[in-house]
Amino acid sequence: MMNKEQIEFEKKLAGEKAAEFVKDGMTIGLGTGSTVYYAIMKIGEMVKQGLNISAVSSSNATSELSKSLNIPLTGIDDAEKINLNIDGADEVDKNLNGIKGGGGALLFEKIVAFKSETNIWIVDSGKLSGRPWKFPLPVEIIPFGSSSTLSRIREKNFMPELRKKEGKIFLTDSGNYIADIRMEENRDLEATDKELKMITGVVETGVFIDIADILIIGQDNGTKILKK
Ligand code: A5P
Repeated sequence: MMNKEQIEFEKKLAGEKAAEFVKDGMTIGLGTGSTVYYAIMKIGEMVKQGLNISAVSSSNATSELSKSLNIPLTGIDDAEKINLNIDGADEVDKNLNGIKGGGGALLFEKIVAFKSETNIWIVDSGKLSGRPWKFPLPVEIIPFGSSSTLSRIREKNFMPELRKKEGKIFLTDSGNYIADIRMEENRDLEATDKELKMITGVVETGVFIDIADILIIGQDNGTKILKK
């Protein structure tokens, strides 16, 4: 088990490595979370030194951070394409499939990812795992009729827990709720995704399959890069 400093060190290595992929003239996507934080900080420095890019943000938090660093932002529908997207993940397997949404930004992150030519994921080494998946799967549901939606999720033998923050129901940037679902041993991610998305009221799941092209893993002695 790594301590907090080691984890931060690995996140920083992975984040800064990803920033090396950003080139002048690109439109980039910026994910959300504590690992992407390091990539954004580095990109902010690069912009300060003259790098000319524009960025599509995946969350309010990322927009705020990017603005504070003078990284030029553009709306997703104003960007013709996104050349490169940098995002974190909560759990990843060796085939570059994984679970996202620990920070609740999965819906916008997935939309940004699908518009991106290349997707880079950055993680610390503790996030490499996969089947059996350990990280509870975040599922975004609309507030309207959420107790019925949660019941229908339960009827499918999933165990959802409505996400709370500081005693209140957690709201995504779209004003939706998140149900965190414990996955049964050996459950297949793709089948789970399909099953959940058939339920009315489910907006999106944190299953990200065939999305990442490059995985940068921070390690105690540098970074390791896996490609699809
Ligand atoms: C945001 O909702 C998530 O998908 C993040 O990308 C993911 O949780 C990784 O975040 P950390 O880098 O903070 O672990």
